[in-house]
Amino acid sequence: MAAIHLPRTIRIGGGVLDELPEVLAAAGLSRPLIVTDAWMQSSGLLARVEALLGGAGIAARAFTGVVPDPTVTSIDAGCAVLAEGEHDCVIGLGGGSPIDSAKMIAVRRDRTIPELKAPHQEDSPGLPIIAIPTTAGTGSEATRFTVITDAETDEKMLCAGLAYLPLIALVDYELTLSKPPRLTADTGIDSLVHAVEAYVSKRANPFADSMALSAMRLIWPNLPRACADPQDRSARAALMLGALQAGIAFSNSSVALVHGMSRPIGAHFHVSHGLSNAMLMPAITQWSAPAALPRYAQCARAMGLADDSEADQSAVGALVEALHRINADLAVPSPRAYGIERERWEALIPLMAQQALGSGSPANNPRLAEAGEIEALYRQVWH
Ligand SMILES: NC(=O)c1ccc[n+]([C@@H]2O[C@H](COP(=O)([O-])OP(=O)(O)OC[C@H]3O[C@@H](n4cnc5c(N)ncnc54)[C@H](O)[C@@H]3O)[C@@H](O)[C@H]2O)c1
Ligand SMILES: [Fe+2]
Repeated sequence: MAAIHLPRTIRIGGGVLDELPEVLAAAGLSRPLIVTDAWMQSSGLLARVEALLGGAGIAARAFTGVVPDPTVTSIDAGCAVLAEGEHDCVIGLGGGSPIDSAKMIAVRRDRTIPELKAPHQEDSPGLPIIAIPTTAGTGSEATRFTVITDAETDEKMLCAGLAYLPLIALVDYELTLSKPPRLTADTGIDSLVHAVEAYVSKRANPFADSMALSAMRLIWPNLPRACADPQDRSARAALMLGALQAGIAFSNSSVALVHGMSRPIGAHFHVSHGLSNAMLMPAITQWSAPAALPRYAQCARAMGLADDSEADQSAVGALVEALHRINADLAVPSPRAYGIERERWEALIPLMAQQALGSGSPANNPRLAEAGEIEALYRQVWH
């Protein structure tokens, strides 16, 4: 049995951004607040969206104060801007940070974010959410999650529920052509981890499996191509579709231990989300694989690392080796090479392990980790 939840409308392809006025009209929406960040403003993308809407007689207001890994303070500021206007929907324009911010601004009302964090489930709808992703990474345009950081405790709070599922997603790969190689690598690995974790999760189901395997087939060969040539349009299109499918996969299955352990690294050491996933992925895959060998072997086959005749054990060996190799190729640093102080890393390990477990994600991992094992894994990935 599986219950599947998706946006009502997903438009996919180069140029679908131009269809924004049409999809808003079809949904009976006409007073959007655009939630975005400073880069979207300085790059001219916000102005392009405002002009599109203006051409259709829609005067949108914008909140441009989104910060990477959005914080409670930045959400408060966005909620204040929402309250100053008369809005019937919220548009998240940008990477996962603007989309996650748009979700929380649309849904929060008079609650505090700690009240909304997992295991709380928020299913009662807020304002309709329209997601326009620009990073081919988080898949947030199609997920029922948002992640907000409490800057005082450095906790990345995972908030879950149908309220956060966008009504409409416009998935236009042309918006990702401007991503530099580092951002391409980090967001691409994030989407790959979504697909693999959704597929090996204890909550896997046939629908999510099909999305996850398709995502792995799209992401694995195209990630090095887009990093080598940011203007490679077919690679960009494949990565954008793969990130969407991976988001659909984990939203209808789950993420697991990598994401559980990655969020505390991001929160305490301000490592980008994709990069902290990448730091963990090879070691956690190796540690988890014995508990779900056939599943990890299927991942290797979907990624073209093993053929159907190859035994599971050797397919998984190829997978772990390839994950180490892609980290080297994409210049993913270890926490040590990233410049994190050893003493601080060591001192925070018990808290990070507790926060990882608290998010609930490790409970979906095929191999269950106790706090002591998570601590040992944090120590192992240090260099
Ligand atoms: N809601 C979910 O289901 C979900 C899933 C995974 C991650 N997340 C969250 O998403 C956030 C990370 O999102 P992200 O990785 O997309 O990055 P991001 O939104 O934080 O953006 C990172 C940087 O890239 C810039 N940028 C975005 N698009 C660009 C483009 N096309 N060209 C050039 N620069 C561009 C941004 O302005 C920003 O400076 C984290 O907070 C993470 O926890 C959410
Ligand atoms: Fe992620």
